[in-house]
Parts: sequence; structure tokens; C-alpha cells
Amino acid sequence: MMHRRALVGGIAILSLLGFPAAAEDTVKVGLVHSMTGVLAPVGKQIMAGVRLYMAEHGDTVAGRKVEVILKDDTTLPDVAKRLAQELIVNERVHILGVGITPSAMAIAPLATEAKIPEVVMVSGTSVVTERSPYIVRTSFTLGQQSAVIGEWAAKNGSKKTVIIQSDWAPGAEATAVFTDAFTKGGGEILDTIKVPLANPDFAPFLQRARDANPDTLFVFVPASQAGTFAKQFVERGFDKSGIRLIGPGDITDDNDLPGMSDALIGVVTAGLYSASHNSPINKAYVAGIKKANNGLRANFISLGGYDGMHLIYEALKKTGGKTDGDGLIAAMKGMKWESPRGPISIDPDTRDIVQNIYIRRVEKIDGELYNTEIATFEAVKDPSKAAKK
Ligand code: PHB
Repeated sequence: MMHRRALVGGIAILSLLGFPAAAEDTVKVGLVHSMTGVLAPVGKQIMAGVRLYMAEHGDTVAGRKVEVILKDDTTLPDVAKRLAQELIVNERVHILGVGITPSAMAIAPLATEAKIPEVVMVSGTSVVTERSPYIVRTSFTLGQQSAVIGEWAAKNGSKKTVIIQSDWAPGAEATAVFTDAFTKGGGEILDTIKVPLANPDFAPFLQRARDANPDTLFVFVPASQAGTFAKQFVERGFDKSGIRLIGPGDITDDNDLPGMSDALIGVVTAGLYSASHNSPINKAYVAGIKKANNGLRANFISLGGYDGMHLIYEALKKTGGKTDGDGLIAAMKGMKWESPRGPISIDPDTRDIVQNIYIRRVEKIDGELYNTEIATFEAVKDPSKAAKK
């Protein structure tokens, strides 16, 4: 604890002494992502997005070279915090690009103290953006998707739902927002079942869900666990049980869909991105990620990295290459652009992402499973923040 305090204090002292943040010409972007550990597939998708953006747009912006320094938080928030301190104090980074919810939260006080932007590229938990005025999000919130699917399910015949949720902050948010939307629409929640984040075995939880006799199963598992879940779902005969599977987009993650059984065809989710999204910009994106990463299919996570770099590049253009944190945050607020996922913007009041949420159905196209977009909810804000206003 003491050691950490001393390091954080060090940031303030260095700036008091008037040390320049880094070599004049280079803009340093420190990335803290989960490259190993439980959520390693998340780090892989993020970096695929970051690298593709830089390959397409070069590494010079507003006359300054952009240098990216990647650190692996091993999926542990304490490690993330230490690495962010090192990036700020030793590397003198101008901007941080961070990942999963626990890490983004652990880093937030450092961004505030050092007054540098913390671009959140993965976390889907609403409250994260409120942890520092220097946080801007390019990912998503679970609330955005869970509100839409809750309303859709209630309107489309679901009456009694069991929730299975990965037991950490984004799971709690998916459950709370879905429950609110679904019960307002007249539905009933029979049971909420929490599954550990690390190495989950879904079988006993699926049995408990079935015993409650629901017509619908709402499931949130994080990116990289959808394949395991789908396998156990089918092994336990759920696909033939008449119970409808729904969820936020994570449950039919494009990263895992190609390995899933055809028994998943017909599953409906509310998500922010499909690899089959029909736009020229997305076709180029999917092809670019695939080519540079051994056939990897771009998923909803990768966009946070790609759009995060876009936000950083465009903000630097607006400031004429100046890197002071307040100026960069001001430049980021209200920014709008077309992403491979569709049109997106940064809400100037909350610094959170505003994006379309699509209702999608799993279908087989040219021999591969995809999420086909069947309805669009335009420019969806994070519902938890909208409710507070
Ligand atoms: C998160 O860190 O909040 C997170 C990570 C992966 C997901 C969803 C949320 O699929």
C-alpha cells in the first residue's frame, strides 16, 4: 500500500517540477490489457483492433509519431494498477487505453491524479465512466444490450425467465437491467443463478435452471466463454427443451460462433456488433482482422480497440497534436463517426458511448454461423445513466 501511494505521489511531484511528459515529438499511448489469464481472448481481440487501425492509418498524427506500449495485466486488477503507474511515472505516457472492468476501475484514480485520458476499450459496466472525469468509453455497456433484449423478450412471448450470470460487475449489471426491463414488460424472473468467472462449469447451473421450469433462459457470460456455454447447453439437451435462449451479444460472440453447434441456430440476442453487419466499412474490417490474425473472426470486443485508436487519433488532430489531458478529453466529447459496428458517438455529458443495438438471430450463411441483424434500436445510451437524469 505504502509503495503504491509513493508512486502515485510521484506523479504529482514530477509534474510540479515541470518535467515534460515525454520526448516532445512522440505521443505515447500506454495500453493495459488482459493478454494472459482468464480473459486472454479479450486482449487478443483488442490488440487485433488496435493493430489494424494503426496499420490502416499509419503511426503519425498531427505531425507527431504515435508509440503504443502494451502491458499485460494477466486479468488481475492489482497488476493493472501497478502497470498503469509504471506507464505514467516511468514511460510518461500521455494517454492510457485500458481493458476489463476490474482493471479499468483500479486505474481510474491514477488517470484522475495524472490528468491523462483513460480510454476504456473493453469494460461493459456502467459505473466505470463515473470513476474519473478522464475516462472515455469506446466499448459498450451490458445495460445497453440487456434493456433492449428485456423489452424484446417480454413483447415476444417470454413470460418466465431464469437468469444465468457470470458472477462479477458486468454480470450484475446485465441481470439488474434485464430484470427491470423484462418485469416492466410483464415478465417474471424465477431465479438468478451466479456462475464463477474463472473456469466455469455450467452443467450444475443449467440443471438448476431447468428445475425452475422457465420458458426463457437469459445468459450473460463474458467473451471467450460462449463456446463452452453453448457446448454444455446442447449436451444437456436444452436445444430440444423448448426453452428459449436469449442474452446480450456476448452469448453468441463472433469469436466463438464458428465453433458452435448448429443447435444454436435461431438464438436471439441484443448486441452492438455482428461480423455480418452489412456495410462496406465492416466488410473491410472483418477481412482486415482475418488476414492479420490467422483467420480470426472480428468480434464485439475488437471494436473497442479499433474505435479507441480512432478516438485518440481524431482527438490529437483536433488539438493539433497537443497532449494535455483536459484538452484531449474536451476534443473527445461529442465526437461522432462511423464504426464497423454502425454509427457511434461519445456522449458529451457522460463520456460514454452511444451506439445502435441490434436484435440478431443466429443463422447459417455459406456454411458458417453468424448473428443476422433483424432490427435496429438507434443511438442507444447507457440506460443506467439516462435514468439518473
Ligand atoms: C468487462 O470487462 O466489463 C467485460 C469483459 C468481457 C465481456 C463483457 C464485459 O464480454
